[in-house]
Amino acid sequence: MANSKKKDVNFYRRVPRKYKNIIEKSVIRYSEEADQYDNHRFISEKGKFFHEIDMEAFFSILGDISGKRILDVAAGTGRLSLELAKKGAQVIALDVTYDMLLEAKKKFSPGMNIFFCNADGRKLPFKDNSFDVITCIRFTHLVSKEDMIDFISEMKRVLKPGGYVIIQFGNKTREIFIGFLEEFLHSVIKKEYKRTTYYPKDYRYLFKDMKIVRKIGIGFTGLELVARLSKSLAMNINLIGRIFPFMYLTKKIIIQAYKNDH
Ligand SMILES: C[S@@+](CC[C@H](N)C(=O)[O-])C[C@H]1O[C@@H](n2cnc3c(N)ncnc32)[C@H](O)[C@@H]1O
Repeated sequence: MANSKKKDVNFYRRVPRKYKNIIEKSVIRYSEEADQYDNHRFISEKGKFFHEIDMEAFFSILGDISGKRILDVAAGTGRLSLELAKKGAQVIALDVTYDMLLEAKKKFSPGMNIFFCNADGRKLPFKDNSFDVITCIRFTHLVSKEDMIDFISEMKRVLKPGGYVIIQFGNKTREIFIGFLEEFLHSVIKKEYKRTTYYPKDYRYLFKDMKIVRKIGIGFTGLELVARLSKSLAMNINLIGRIFPFMYLTKKIIIQAYKNDH
């Protein structure tokens, strides 16, 4: 898309040199896939189910967000941003890939309170203390733990005191028990990229300057098969992931962490 390439070039000029390589890879990958991104992931019954349990978990934490200023980092084609805007929040959907945001824009109706921002999550173009809430879904598996420190410190900077982040992570604890076969299939057999996943100690380190108040586990191996038989049964089994110690068997963990008031 000629227009988007021009935008991307301008955008790259503002990106610090040390990040250019990593960003380029992501932008190339997601620019190529943007118009098929949703079809590949969220159109099948399995995809719709995963989207549904993601949304249920995020909104069980978010509660009433009407009028809140929310930044959705790595918003992609806007599946979470859209739901946030529908519930009355003022949303900024931010993503490094312009073409993903173009796809997101198609989904929003003119009256919705949403802005799109083509930027790197490690260099947010906002003033300190600007947002009530920051969300980030289906992203952390793509970057290294070291990079994630930079993302979180930027989120913390633009978050208002007393505001909070909700971020989804891949759960490494589960790999020890049951997930190792899936990871092996993913990275060795299918030769796809290695996903970054997290142990509880990693969260403590990442959020050492913030206050973790909630952890929610989402998705068990094979849950999509149960959903084929009964969606409501699968949704109920999924809720077991909120109970300790079952959380450590789930595929993903969502962390809610506050920026201190002082
Ligand atoms: C797997 S997609 C997830 C999109 C969306 N959150 C979802 O749940 O469908 C990952 C997104 O991260 C974006 N991304 C990658 N690196 C980024 C960065 N440094 N800053 C902001 N967004 C980035 C990609 O462009 C892509 O849209």
